[in-house]
Amino acid sequence: MNVAAPWQAPPLTTRIVTDRLVLRLPRSVDVPELRRALRANAEHLRPWQAIPPRGEDPTSLTSVSRTVARHRREWKRGQSLSLVISPRANEAHIVGRIALTGLLLGAFRNGYLGYWVDASCQRGGLATEAVVAVTTFAFRTGGLHRVQAAVMPSNAASARVLTKARYRQEGLALRYLSIAGRWEDHLIFAVTVEEWT
Ligand SMILES: CC(C)(COP(=O)(O)OP(=O)(O)OC[C@H]1O[C@@H](n2cnc3c(N)ncnc32)[C@H](O)[C@@H]1OP(=O)(O)O)[C@@H](O)C(=O)NCCC(=O)NCCS
Repeated sequence: MNVAAPWQAPPLTTRIVTDRLVLRLPRSVDVPELRRALRANAEHLRPWQAIPPRGEDPTSLTSVSRTVARHRREWKRGQSLSLVISPRANEAHIVGRIALTGLLLGAFRNGYLGYWVDASCQRGGLATEAVVAVTTFAFRTGGLHRVQAAVMPSNAASARVLTKARYRQEGLALRYLSIAGRWEDHLIFAVTVEEWT
């Protein structure tokens, strides 16, 4: 890979289609549905998320609108690729989100993977399907060389998703992220384009 090659953000209209899912950048019209999904999953997601700043409700209409606008801005600037996950049969219904953030080019060409799937759709293989699709997109279209994910050792379901998707476990990063108010150790998983077939 030529690390000096110019990088162009994929089109905002990108749709990644898998057997059961469509992954796409949300638009402002998706704000009410994304808010519904975030509210419905607040308890499901809380143990794995940072505490929001005091007095801020990340599921308020204003916050979700700002988040969608920021995701669109960051996509255009090549800083992140954030996609909502919907069933192919009903693209207006949001059942999760998956993102590559902190995109760095140059000699690194790396993105950090994060994801969640609706509590009512657990253990159906949806997260694994989305992770495989986004990783393929990152390498084939996004021009990345490496994708990394960090998982708390207690999050067995997420570690299993990455293992099924054939990510490698690289090690344990101590006090890596502040989750639910504590600096938590995280298992580091990664894959590079050379390993991705
Ligand atoms: C982690 C998460 C994305 C998994 O979504 P999902 O669609 O259920 O994932 P999949 O069905 O593709 O795979 C889950 C695997 O974990 C297994 N699993 C689920 N709960 C488990 C548990 N408590 N212990 C061990 N394995 C578990 C499932 O059986 C499945 O493995 P299998 O196919 O070998 O049976 C979802 O639970 C989630 O959104 N969690 C909250 C947010 C989160 O943790 N995000 C990741 C942060 S790193």
